[in-house]
Amino acid sequence: MVSHHERAQRYLKRYAQGVILRSHSLEQYNQFLENLGEKQSLEKIVEQIIQRKRLCKILDVGCGNANALKTLKKMFEERIHTIGMDLLPPETREGLDEFIEGDVHTIPIPTHCDLILSFRALHEMGNLHSLIPKIAHSLDKGGRGYLWLRMLEMVGQKPLFVGEMNKKEEKALVELGVKKEIEDCQVMVQPVEIPIPVNNENDPRETAIGGYIVLLHRPL
Ligand SMILES: C[S@@+](CC[C@H](N)C(=O)[O-])C[C@H]1O[C@@H](n2cnc3c(N)ncnc32)[C@H](O)[C@@H]1O
Repeated sequence: MVSHHERAQRYLKRYAQGVILRSHSLEQYNQFLENLGEKQSLEKIVEQIIQRKRLCKILDVGCGNANALKTLKKMFEERIHTIGMDLLPPETREGLDEFIEGDVHTIPIPTHCDLILSFRALHEMGNLHSLIPKIAHSLDKGGRGYLWLRMLEMVGQKPLFVGEMNKKEEKALVELGVKKEIEDCQVMVQPVEIPIPVNNENDPRETAIGGYIVLLHRPL
């Protein structure tokens, strides 16, 4: 069993090599959001929150370089409070009101967030049975969480679990989807299929569940 500390060290090494993309832009985040079934852009969602509350607190869990948060900060200035969380620091902290460096499993997540994003990061974190409730607890009333994680990657012709994902993690996600709520927070878990090459003799399936969308909403 790998400890959180060992896992963090492993990812620190991988990211220090700069092999994996951790600089998605606001436009790319909006594309992820659209893939999640959300019709409105992040800018539009933020605008609506500001109309309701004046100040919108946004957290990106596994933010990488936090480009999307930084662009939003330029647009909305003092009307939003931007918080990035990651194992590794971003290239610059400009545009972030807070940056929390560390392993999300061992440090507290800021509370009363209006918007929590986590794109392409949860599969590296694992322990979803405790992490997703931890994220849900950090939402303020009326807050929403948009999470997208990969489950499989194609290695050659074979679909294999990616990062910290495995059968147990997937089961935990599916169970959350069945429960539909974490205390007073609504949870929707939706599988996303990916095609598998049909000439894969080792695997007769034509599609597999390659990732999951997790939507959180704490009603007002
Ligand atoms: C593939 S990158 C995605 C970054 C960003 N969301 C984007 O799309 O540009 C995944 C990020 O998750 C971070 N990460 C992985 N495990 C983590 C952990 N246990 N706690 C905090 N951050 C973690 C990595 O350092 C990395 O920056």
